[in-house]
Amino acid sequence: MKAALFKKYGSRDSIVVSEVELPKIKEHEILIRVKATTVTAVDAIFRSGNDLFPRMATGLFSPRIKTLGTELSGVVEALGEQVNDFKIGDEVIADSGTNYGAHAEYVIVSDKDPIVHKPEGLSFEEAAAVPYGALTALPFLRDHGKIKQGDRVLIIGASGSVGTYAVQLAKYFETEVTAVCSSEKVELVSSLGADHCINYQTTKLEDIEDQFDIIFDTIGKYSMRVLKHLLSPQGIYLTTVLSLGSVIDMLMTKGTDKKSILALTGLRKNEDKTADLLFISELFNQKKLISVIDRKYDLDAIHDAFEYVSKGHKSGAVVVTT
Ligand SMILES: NC(=O)c1ccc[n+]([C@@H]2O[C@H](COP(=O)([O-])OP(=O)(O)OC[C@H]3O[C@@H](n4cnc5c(N)ncnc54)[C@H](OP(=O)(O)O)[C@@H]3O)[C@@H](O)[C@H]2O)c1
Repeated sequence: MKAALFKKYGSRDSIVVSEVELPKIKEHEILIRVKATTVTAVDAIFRSGNDLFPRMATGLFSPRIKTLGTELSGVVEALGEQVNDFKIGDEVIADSGTNYGAHAEYVIVSDKDPIVHKPEGLSFEEAAAVPYGALTALPFLRDHGKIKQGDRVLIIGASGSVGTYAVQLAKYFETEVTAVCSSEKVELVSSLGADHCINYQTTKLEDIEDQFDIIFDTIGKYSMRVLKHLLSPQGIYLTTVLSLGSVIDMLMTKGTDKKSILALTGLRKNEDKTADLLFISELFNQKKLISVIDRKYDLDAIHDAFEYVSKGHKSGAVVVTT
């Protein structure tokens, strides 16, 4: 099978598409013929090797992960003897999590990993673009932000993979959503349900005079310190990006009225992720969510996908078909 091998940190030539042996399954594992996967902002950060925190997960000096990629859709090709919930030929969405390996024609996931049947109305491309963004936005808003009807929510980075789901889920929870995005993405973000848009290119967030119950900084470009005055008295600042600043903010605001929370949603228990993926699939079945795709690439052109994602301007997901 073909797989995109992660050879070294750096840019174009660090990912090499090669023929490798088809992996063998164990009794609780599922072999999936990958139809579509994505290159996420995290994949691009991992490939660059530029930051210390991500290198602690991927290898300090050289990559430990053979093949990147976590979210995927595909067809069940083979099953271990102890797998009960799926059969060969099932169309699925899965998140290979910290086992990675989705940038390939085949991937193995455990039956404990988040894997669900693909909603019928979704193409494989749309389905591949679900787990990363939705399984980040949902626990941030629901579990950490304690989102509730009527809340005023500010979503920074509303046009990205996490942001496009955050806007839609915040609307699902019946809140008033203000989205922060660039001028060319206002139309997209409004179509996802945002009530108001702030163009960060022309308006300094620090200078606006609104109050929000939740500020969800999906891209970690701001901080609680800078935007604290925009939080309501019990407001919560959510940030996705692990940095010294976000850790200090979280420690300093623990137990205070206005809180800053950093969470690493990828490290949640698999059973919680699976339950959430089922919930998200049901929202797709009910046509309450859509999956936003910016561009599509073939696996052979995955370097181009990485180059594009690394620029940080994508809308929703960049899909790779295999
Ligand atoms: N903690 C966790 O569990 C977790 C999980 C997943 C991801 N993450 C992190 O989440 C971050 C975001 O990921 P993502 O995949 O959603 O990113 P993404 O898909 O690359 O999207 C970033 C979006 O932000 C927009 N943007 C850039 N600068 C902006 C600004 N100043 N204000 C508002 N919008 C701006 C970009 O469009 P324009 O440039 O056109 O504005 C783009 O649409 C990554 O750093 C990743 O590491 C954390």
